[in-house]
Amino acid sequence: MRLDVVTIFPEYLEPLNVSLVGKARARGQLDVRIHDLREFTHDKHNTVDDTPYGGGPGMVMKPEPWGEALDSVLASGEGEDKPVLVVPTPSGRPFTQQLAVELSEKPWLVFTPARYEGIDRRVIEEYGDHLDVREVSIGDYVLAGGEAPVLVMVEAIARLLPGVLGNAASHQDDSFAPGAMADLLEGPVYTKPPEWRGRGIPEVLLSGHHGKIARWRRDEAFRRTDANRPDLIERADPAAFDKKDREI
Ligand code: ADE
Repeated sequence: MRLDVVTIFPEYLEPLNVSLVGKARARGQLDVRIHDLREFTHDKHNTVDDTPYGGGPGMVMKPEPWGEALDSVLASGEGEDKPVLVVPTPSGRPFTQQLAVELSEKPWLVFTPARYEGIDRRVIEEYGDHLDVREVSIGDYVLAGGEAPVLVMVEAIARLLPGVLGNAASHQDDSFAPGAMADLLEGPVYTKPPEWRGRGIPEVLLSGHHGKIARWRRDEAFRRTDANRPDLIERADPAAFDKKDREI
C-alpha cells in the first residue's frame, strides 16, 4: 500500500518510522511518502494561510499550495490506480473500525492534515470531482491539527494489512472487529506469572477447556461493554446476542 501525507509539519509524522508501521515500511509492505506543503509556496514567507472570507477568528489554509502539492503527488502515481483522499477534520464522518477495514483494502491513500481552521473548501470540491474524497473525524473533540489523526488512522489501517501483524488472528477478536464478538468490547487478558501481588488468574483460563474459556471471554466482553459502552449493546442487532448473554 502507498501512503502520502501532505503537511506543514513533516517531523510530526516521524512516529511512522517506529514500531509496527516502521517495520512494515522497512519490509516494503508500506510505501510512506511525506511532503512539506511549504515547498509548494512561492513567496518569501512560504505562506500557507490567510484570513477567512466573511470574517471571524483564525486562519484558513490557502488553496494554491494544496492544489500544487496534490497535483504533484497525483502526477507521481501516473499509471497507478487513483488514490483515496483522506481529509482529517472534526467535521468529518467518524473513523471506525469498519472504515479502517475499507481503507486498508485500497492500494493508495493520500492524507491532507490541516492546521488552523481548515482548508479552503474549493480544494475538497476540486479533488472531489475526480477522486474518492473522505472527510474523517477521529472523535468528538477538536485537535490543533490533522497530523495526530493521521497517525491514528495509519496505525489502525496498517495493522490490518496482510502480513503486518505477527499473528493474523490477533485482530480477529479486537474490540469492534466483525465476527463472533462483533458489537462487543474485548474483555480482560492475563499472562504469567500465575500470581502477582496476591492476585491470581481466573480459574477457567487454566482449565484447558476451550468451550468454557470461549464462554467466559464472551461473558466478560459483554459485561465490559455493558459497563463502558451500553450504547453499543442498544445499537446492536438483538440476534447477535444469545440467551446466555442476556443472563449476564
Ligand atoms: N482535526 C482537528 N480535530 C480533529 C478530529 N477530531 N478528527 C480529525 N481531524 C481533526
